[in-house]
Amino acid sequence: MRVIGLLGLGVIGRALAENLARQGCRVRGFDPSPEARARASAEGIKVSADLADLVQGLAPPRAVLLLVPAGRDVDAAIEALLPGLTAGDLVVDCGNSHWRDTERRSAAMAGRGLGYLGVGISGGEAGARDGPAIMAGGSAEGWTRVGPLLTAAAARFDDEPCCAWLGPGGAGHFTKMVHNGIEYAVMQLIAETFDLAVHGLGLEHDEAADLFERFGHGALGSYLIDITAEVLRLVDEPSGEPFVELINDAAEQKGTGNWASVEALEQGVPATLLMEAVAARSLSARKAAREALRREPEPGPAKGEVHAADLEAALLAGTLVAYAQGFELLATAGATHGWPLDLARVARLWRAGCIIRAKLLSPIAKALERLPEGVPLLADALLAERLEAALPGLRAALLAAAERGVPTPCLAAALAWLDAHRVARLPTRLIQAQRDHFGRHGFARIDRPGRHHLPRAEEAGP
Ligand code: 6PG
Repeated sequence: MRVIGLLGLGVIGRALAENLARQGCRVRGFDPSPEARARASAEGIKVSADLADLVQGLAPPRAVLLLVPAGRDVDAAIEALLPGLTAGDLVVDCGNSHWRDTERRSAAMAGRGLGYLGVGISGGEAGARDGPAIMAGGSAEGWTRVGPLLTAAAARFDDEPCCAWLGPGGAGHFTKMVHNGIEYAVMQLIAETFDLAVHGLGLEHDEAADLFERFGHGALGSYLIDITAEVLRLVDEPSGEPFVELINDAAEQKGTGNWASVEALEQGVPATLLMEAVAARSLSARKAAREALRREPEPGPAKGEVHAADLEAALLAGTLVAYAQGFELLATAGATHGWPLDLARVARLWRAGCIIRAKLLSPIAKALERLPEGVPLLADALLAERLEAALPGLRAALLAAAERGVPTPCLAAALAWLDAHRVARLPTRLIQAQRDHFGRHGFARIDRPGRHHLPRAEEAGP
């Protein structure tokens, strides 16, 4: 196999280099940081002393993988590479780049006769080393060159590689962005369920860990549920406190969840869980506002009971809605941007290697295979049946949350989204009337065709 270049020897870069080497690929790496180069060298990676040496060490047509932080670092890396590249060479951005940046870079590289791929890789350090999920987009020709290698390095589920080329330009990074939007939503749903386990069921942390472990054996089985149980069991050695209680609750974010939410708003997709999950992290970090508005919980009347089964059902319903919203965003964006996104393939490739890998993705993939285009995911008979069974638990969990003052923005958004789809008529008819009242915007009527206005007050008379 030819030698492949790898620019960026941080934790993920080194882990991926190890994986690629296991596939029989000869990797040559470089990182501007001498410490990163030294570490990589110590781990047995062949490291170049400078970028020119890296590029010269590769025979044309070259392929260089970028594993650098998204944003300006990617542009800087491309700028630095360009003088050494010749027509036919290929650059593969394996970071969490914004898909619009990937589109721009793809076009600029194509203008120079260079190939460009934007590849979303999920699974953190362990995934990069042992088999991540890989969502590729960009030049189809470029994919024929590095696709086989990345496919060999990817995770597998039932012998199907969790790796696919999903379309040109930014299609791969768009899909990874939606993966992260769902990741944010599911993490927030799990956090809310934990809060209810403590304040609604009165569980200690190790008992909550048992609960999540039990959830993991059922329909909710997933990587995120497994690590939740694991984290909840950790105890701080000197103090004996549950470890999670010593962690500052200001949640951080690098932007991918925010990008997914902005995209959903722009596409007119009501991906409310994705948006609420981002807002929940932002709110958690507003320490001054939280301090100013903080109150001790009111004693209030006796609170109704909530059961572990309600929490499991609530989390299941919420998770189904999070996936439904994510896939709707993919479907809408795919149509808008002309990407041939195969949604069932995306669901299948998320079944292993990535952060949102979950048992639910198998029935979701089957539903996406069966459903005619344009039919919502949760209209699938099998998923609808699961959702119907989970709905009373979601309502009970939210009643308990409201009574106890437990904030549950994503669970509540899931129920609001479901109910808004279930009722025959929405109160938005009143919004249409208000718009016409103050702005003569007009509205459609249900009993006759055309555009209409309210009878004006002066015309209607006293
Ligand atoms: C993955 C993850 C990863 C992401 C982290 C942190 O799929 O491996 O999505 O790409 O960078 O989860 O993201 P935040 O800092 O925004 O939480």
